[in-house]
Amino acid sequence: MGIKIKNSALAISILVISGCSNTNSQPEEEMDHSTMNAEEMDHSTMDMDDDMKENEHMSHDEVVSLNDSTGENELKLPSMLERDNEEGVVYTVRAQEGKTEIFDGIETTTYGYNGTFLGPMLRLEKGETVKIRTINELQEDTTFHWHGLEVSGEEDGGPHSVIKPGEENIIEFEVAQEASTLWFHPHPVGKTAEQVYNGLAGLIYIEDDNSKTLGLPSDYGKNDFPLIFQDKTFDDKKQLNYSAAMNEDGTIGDTLLINGTLNSKLTVNKEKVRLRLLNGSNARNFTFKLNTGDSFVQIATDGGFLNEPVTLKEVTLTPSERAEIVVDFSQLNTAKDVALINEDGSVLLPFEVSDQSGMNSSIPKEMNNFSLTEKEMNLPITKKVELFGMMDQVTINGKKFDPNRIDFTQEQGVTEVWEIYNKPDEMGGMNHPFHIHGTQFKILSRDGKEPAENERGWKDSISIKPDETVKIAVQFKHKGVYMFHCHILEHEENGMMGQVKVE
Ligand code: C2O
Ligand code: CU
Ligand code: CU
Repeated sequence: MGIKIKNSALAISILVISGCSNTNSQPEEEMDHSTMNAEEMDHSTMDMDDDMKENEHMSHDEVVSLNDSTGENELKLPSMLERDNEEGVVYTVRAQEGKTEIFDGIETTTYGYNGTFLGPMLRLEKGETVKIRTINELQEDTTFHWHGLEVSGEEDGGPHSVIKPGEENIIEFEVAQEASTLWFHPHPVGKTAEQVYNGLAGLIYIEDDNSKTLGLPSDYGKNDFPLIFQDKTFDDKKQLNYSAAMNEDGTIGDTLLINGTLNSKLTVNKEKVRLRLLNGSNARNFTFKLNTGDSFVQIATDGGFLNEPVTLKEVTLTPSERAEIVVDFSQLNTAKDVALINEDGSVLLPFEVSDQSGMNSSIPKEMNNFSLTEKEMNLPITKKVELFGMMDQVTINGKKFDPNRIDFTQEQGVTEVWEIYNKPDEMGGMNHPFHIHGTQFKILSRDGKEPAENERGWKDSISIKPDETVKIAVQFKHKGVYMFHCHILEHEENGMMGQVKVE
C-alpha cells in the first residue's frame, strides 16, 4: 500500500514551510535529508535499505498530503454519553470492536467506545464526583486513559492499569479542574498506537460556572462542534491495516477523517461558531487556517480558556493538542466557498453557510484569570528532560521506557520547573509533542522568550522543535505514578516515555 505524493515541488515546499517546525516559527532551513523522489513510498516494506529509511523519516515531515475533502458527507458528531440509571455508577464506557461504514457500502473493521468507531462525548461538571465503569470487550488488553484530566495515578489509566478482555474496573474522582476540552484513549504498552489508530478515542467536556456564563457559542451541534482530526491509510479493501501502514517515526495517512467522517462538510448558520479542534492523529501535525485568509479567534488551549481571545490566521496543533477557536460566519464573505484548510492548502473541512442568522453569542474580552506568578517565573529548574532521536532510536534522557523504573519523583501540590530540551541529531532532528499525564501545566518560556499569546493558558501537551528548550511549571494535584512522553504514538511505543511518581 503506497501513499502518493501530489507533486514533488509541492512536497518540497511543504518540507520547507512546515518542516519539523511549529506555528510561530520561521521556515526551517533546508534539511540535508530533503532529497526525495515523488514516487510512491512503500510503507509496508520491513527490510528497508538506508535510503529508504531516510525517506521514512522524511515522511514524518508531512510530505504526504492529505486528499482534499469533497464535502459530500455531513460531519458526524459524537453522541453525548447518557448517565446510567444504576445506583452509584454514573457512566459506563466499553471498548469494543465492530464494523463501520466509512466508505459507502463498505464495512471497515474498527474499534470504538460504546460503538464501533471513536467514542461518545462525556460531559462533566466541575465539582461533581464521577464514577465511571470501564469495560474491555476487545480480544486484547487495553487501558482507559483520561488525557488532560487531573486524577490520581490509579485512575489515570496509564500502562499499569491494564484491563483484560472481558474485565471491568470502576474509577471514582472529583472533577476539580476548570472548563476545558479533554479526551480519552487507550494506553497499553505496545498497543497504544494501534488501538488509537483503529478508532479508540473519545472526548471529555468539562463545564463550570465560568463557561456557562461567558455567553460563548455553546449549543452542541448548532454553533459548538468538536472536530477530531485523524489521518489514516486504508488498504485496497478499505481496511485499516496498522502493521502495513505503521511508520516507526509516526504513522501518517493520506485520508482524513473528522469525527470518523470521510469527505466531511459542516453546515453552519451566519453566526459565531465554536470549533473544538483536537489533533487525534498518531503523528501528523496540522496547521489550520481558512481558505479565505480571514482570521478567527482562539479562546481555549488544552486545559482551559485563554484570558482573552487571541486573533489568529492559523493555528498549529501537534498530536494530542487541542485549541478552541471561534469563526464568525456572519462577518465572512460567504459568496465564496469557505473551508478549513491545512498549511499546504489541502481542504480539510468545507463549510456550507446557510442564510439563517443563528444565535446571538458573544466572545467576551475577559474569559479567565490564568496567570504566571513572579514566584513561578523565578523557581529553579529541578527536572530536566532531554528528547532525542528518531524512528526506533528515540529516548528520553538517553533511556527508553521501563515500566519498573521511576524516572522522577515530585511532591503533591508543589510546583516544579521542568526544562525540556529537544536535542537535534546530524539530520536536524524532528518535532516532538511532549505530554505529561495527570496535570495541566504552564509554559514559562520557549528558548528564554515568553510563549506566544495563544500558549498563555493551561497545557498538557506542548510541541518542541529541534534544539528548542522549553520551561514549564508543573504541579500535580494528586498522587500516583504518571507517564510523560512524546505523543507521536509510535515514539511513545518505541520507548520515548518516562514515569514521575508523585507522593
Ligand atoms: Cu494522550 Cu499518555 O497520553
Ligand atoms: Cu495523557
Ligand atoms: Cu517524538
